[in-house]
Amino acid sequence: MAGVKPFKAMAITLFPDMFPGPLGLSLAGKAIEEGIWTLETVDIRDFASDKHRTADDSPFGGGAGMVIRPDVLEAAVAASHTSGTPLIYVTPRGRLLEQSRVRTLAAGSGMSIICGRYEGIDERFLEAREVEEVSLGDFVLSGGEPAAIALIDAVVRLLPGVVSKTKSLEDESFETGLLEYPHYTRPDTWGGREVPEVLKSGHHAKIQAWRRMRSEEITRERRPDLWARYKAGSIGVKK
Ligand code: ADE
Repeated sequence: MAGVKPFKAMAITLFPDMFPGPLGLSLAGKAIEEGIWTLETVDIRDFASDKHRTADDSPFGGGAGMVIRPDVLEAAVAASHTSGTPLIYVTPRGRLLEQSRVRTLAAGSGMSIICGRYEGIDERFLEAREVEEVSLGDFVLSGGEPAAIALIDAVVRLLPGVVSKTKSLEDESFETGLLEYPHYTRPDTWGGREVPEVLKSGHHAKIQAWRRMRSEEITRERRPDLWARYKAGSIGVKK
């Protein structure tokens, strides 16, 4: 994409070898090759001041685990983060990530993501840097790296030129405020199960209506929270 500055993703981590991982393959990997986005990693330990490269210490007040030191992390962020772009910490105590936030991030020029391990990060650093804390859901990963990879993947696929068919983005879960309808392909009959007749009818309006009905049913059953918001008309790009 000549003339357009690539989106810049920065992962600040104790385990730089976990990157690019899946981001180096498939859609995201191809988009790096095409110059649509860049991925850089920063090893927090490179900014430790002792010969053991210590980045963490035991928590004041006691308790299990270790806490990442604010001074070491500040040095890592100061050396790598582009000011004016979001500085995100992926943690289960963050605000739940939604597609609307992903869209906003993809509309920007880049983002830095701090990956925690152990018990967490010194709170003073999070306050001083006004870090945005983001959670992928109500479950706990062993560290922030897989969460950062997931967040970067979600953003990168929305960058112009990454997913070629705009249509396939418009129909997917959350873009309408509903979960996605079911899909079918050949064979017509499989294991005694038929493809719904309407999908083979060639009747575009009926197909659209069927898909909308199934999307609504699935959302109502599985995600009462999304359903309530959809009914209230507060989210989603209404078509
Ligand atoms: N790090 C560990 N668990 C996480 C989660 N659920 N979301 C984001 N970051 C995390």
